Amino acid sequence: MSVYILALETSCDETACSVIKDGKEVLSNIVSSQINIHSQFGGVIPEVASRIHVENISLVIQEALEKAEVTMDEVAGIAVTVGPGLIGSLHVGVMAAKTIAWLYDKPLIPIHHIVGHIYANKIVDDIQFPLLSLVVSGGHSELVFMKDDWSFKVLGTTQDDAVGEAYDKVARLLHLPYPGGPQIDRLAKQGKPHYTLKTPKTEGAYDFSFSGLKSSVLQLMERLKKQKEEIVEADIAYSFQEVALNMLVDKTMLAVEQYKPKHVVLAGGVAANSRLRSLITEKMESYPNVKLTIPPLSCCTDNAAMIGVSGYMAYQKGLFADLSIGANPWIDIESS
Ligand code: KG4
Ligand code: ZN
Repeated sequence: MSVYILALETSCDETACSVIKDGKEVLSNIVSSQINIHSQFGGVIPEVASRIHVENISLVIQEALEKAEVTMDEVAGIAVTVGPGLIGSLHVGVMAAKTIAWLYDKPLIPIHHIVGHIYANKIVDDIQFPLLSLVVSGGHSELVFMKDDWSFKVLGTTQDDAVGEAYDKVARLLHLPYPGGPQIDRLAKQGKPHYTLKTPKTEGAYDFSFSGLKSSVLQLMERLKKQKEEIVEADIAYSFQEVALNMLVDKTMLAVEQYKPKHVVLAGGVAANSRLRSLITEKMESYPNVKLTIPPLSCCTDNAAMIGVSGYMAYQKGLFADLSIGANPWIDIESS
């Protein structure tokens, strides 16, 4: 008999619901994005995000079930992102999941957002272990090593801003609209290696740091302005992107050398970046025995299918929560 998981994801500014069959087949994947609203403010306004989640969540759930042609009676379990993310946004998804789980007497399956991003790769590829994942999003920059299925070890993380956050902040300095990542990606293609920006130092070999890089961009722009020199925005975008992405890719390659994974995957919204995709592909050519998966854009940005795929695995392991569970923005992936 087929197992259907209904999954909810509301950790940031996407209200998403998906129905997954047998852990792999995406029957529906509805994502209601709030980007048009937040872009007017240059970034996500948490209070506004949670209010829009409240308005949209029932509609998105209904649409996901209709598109999948699955009824609540047929659903085996309700998976939901419990953290990390914006507390108010997470809360809406968790409350909705708890309500449905109680009403229909289904198991409630709590999922870590980053676990979802990593397992999004399962939608498009068979994954192999040991696996190394470079998780890069608006809220995260992490290298996660998985010796086996459902075992998570964080090798390194950001000491300050997440890489997507840095993209969004630098985009704002360059007067580009939110979200800034795709804008810088596009603009940098026309840029040249004209400006020099230093790679920030980190404590751990696998850690990242981006806030100093953002400040260097600001200082460079102020200096050019003071000296009445032209500010070539495409060249700034180019230099920022090269430093940020080379830091990510160099540390990933260091981990490939040391941890010898069989498979490397990209995860999170910044994995949509065209330069990151080509850089890592190029570097991985020196490791022909290590598989590389770069998921399609629809799997990189926030969605509920990734929560459903992870939810199916957790369902099989019996990793359920009771109705006392709440949203947890500080949840630790290693205790998943
Ligand atoms: O994973 P995601 O959808 O949400 C979070 O969990 O944060 O990632 C959103 C982030 C934003 O910061 C956005 O600017 C960035 O991903 N992003 C990109 C690109 N597309 C989205 N960054 C760089 N290049 C892109 N093409
Ligand atoms: Zn995300």
